[in-house]
This record gives sequence, structure tokens and C-alpha cells, in this order.
Amino acid sequence: MAEQRLLFVCLGNICRSPAAEGVFLHLLAQEGLEDRVVVDSAGTGGWHVGRPADRRMRAAAERRGIHLPSRARQIELADFSRFDRILTMDADNLRAVQALARELGPRSGQAQIEPMTSHCRRFSVGDVPDPYYGGDQGFEHVLDLLEDACAGLLETLRPALR
Ligand code: 4NP
Repeated sequence: MAEQRLLFVCLGNICRSPAAEGVFLHLLAQEGLEDRVVVDSAGTGGWHVGRPADRRMRAAAERRGIHLPSRARQIELADFSRFDRILTMDADNLRAVQALARELGPRSGQAQIEPMTSHCRRFSVGDVPDPYYGGDQGFEHVLDLLEDACAGLLETLRPALR
């Protein structure tokens, strides 16, 4: 039985949130905890539904030995009851997810909505910036932030995984 269900959310679900999913899966595999956590990702927008992660994001992750398996999908209302935590990449994603939760009102399920960067231990930043229109350095920075945040998140969850 999985003990925790996590949904990572960005705008397009082809750069940041699939990277967060891959980085977290990588950490779980290193610790033999894959069976204890369900991990998924989604976008607030639907433009890229069905596509694999952006080639630049996949290449940057592969250089760190991290595979990004996901295909893009859009967040849906059922996600608020399917997942324990919804982790948003930036302030726009947070607002969009909170607006969806308000649509559901008291039926919005148990998902706790929180910024991904709130789990960073080394970096002190509010957002994982959108790398889509920038250069390679942006993708590396996304991975640096996500490796930090995923490690912090795993430490937060660890007591619930025992
Ligand atoms: P993501 O990046 O939200 O990290 O997946 C983006 C991907 C695509 C677009 C914007 C951001 N887009 O405008 O198509």
C-alpha cells in the first residue's frame, strides 16, 4: 500500500513538473521506497496533452542520470481527492490550483496545496522559474532547485513512510 500520493503541477506539464516527478522517483528508487509513494504530474494548461517532456528538459535530466517518463496531462478536479499533496512550481500555478479547489468548495478532497520551493533547504526562492523560452542554463537551474526541494520533501514525508 502506498502511504503518500503526490502530484507535481506546472503550466504545460512538459518541463518543470515532469522533472519534479522524475527527480522524486529517482530519489525514491535510490532508497527503495518506490512502493510507498505514488508520484504523478499535471499542467494547469492543456496545450501539450499527450506529449513527452520537453527534449531539453529530458536531456538535462539524463545528464544527471534521471529519466523523465511522463506524458503531459491537464489537472482535473478528481486530482484533489486522488492526491494527498499538490506541489505547485510557481505563484501562477498556485493561484490556478487554488482557484480549482475553490470551484470544488467543501468537496475539494484532502489534497494539501503547497509551493514546491517551500521544501527547499539550500535555496531560498519562491518559484521554480519557467525555463521554456530560455537557454540551457534555465533547465539546469530548474533541476538544481528540484533536487533540493525533492530531498526536503522526502525528509518531510519520511515519518509517514515508516
Ligand atoms: P512548464 O513549461 O510549465 O514547466 O511545462 C512550459 C511549457 C510550455 C509552455 C509554457 C511553459 N508553453 O507556453 O507552451
